[in-house]
Amino acid sequence: MEVKVFKDKNEVAHKFSAYFKELVKGKEIFQVALSGGSTPKIVFDVLAADYGDKIDWSRIHFYWGDERCVPPSDDQSNYKMTVEHLFSKIDVPSKNIHRVLGEADPMGEAMRYANLLEINLDRVEGVPQFDLVILGMGDDGHTASIFPHEIALWNSNDHCVVATHPDSGQKRVSINGKVINCSKEVVFLVTGSSKAQKVDEIHHKKAGFEKYPASLVNPDSGQLVFFMDEAAASKL
Ligand code: 6PG
Repeated sequence: MEVKVFKDKNEVAHKFSAYFKELVKGKEIFQVALSGGSTPKIVFDVLAADYGDKIDWSRIHFYWGDERCVPPSDDQSNYKMTVEHLFSKIDVPSKNIHRVLGEADPMGEAMRYANLLEINLDRVEGVPQFDLVILGMGDDGHTASIFPHEIALWNSNDHCVVATHPDSGQKRVSINGKVINCSKEVVFLVTGSSKAQKVDEIHHKKAGFEKYPASLVNPDSGQLVFFMDEAAASKL
């Protein structure tokens, strides 16, 4: 595991963008699962600004680690956010964008998306393997859309599961922990002082840390890299 700490969210965005550029260099095809949330918004803006014309996007295939069960036009949609902050600024073929159909029946879509991953990605012992999974960490220690109150979903036999936001009850489709930990690389983008407590508990394995899904991210053989700002890393 590697922990990279930078001054603020903006520097995290620039440093991750440079890291991403190097990761995809020379790859014939690069399969990446994106995250939602506020941090990716600035990361995508910077990635497009810094490397929009320096990366051959035709070799990159975009998936989502989780998506809200809302139409693609909804402001809650991770797909919509990604279009606004990245896809609308780069030359990426539409066939490379594999969105979760948020408007569909959640259980049916979870099954469809799991099948899509099993077809499109290489598999390791039957588990679809991404080149990169980008994750965030919620204030409650969730990651992707696996929340503490549904931590049992982490080890689901289904590679995509239907999760429920603990406050809003919003349904979400999320990849499970087996797919996350099968990835060749996992990058956590964690910024803001509201994350400092969970970062402290998880990194120092404080009592009860295992109840946070984010603590279960431990790639089987891949790399785990944290990109954090000083505020999120303030208790390390
Ligand atoms: C989502 C994300 C979610 C996010 C965390 C952190 O769909 O909301 O996948 O897991 O990564 O909530 O979000 P921030 O980037 O806002 O800290």
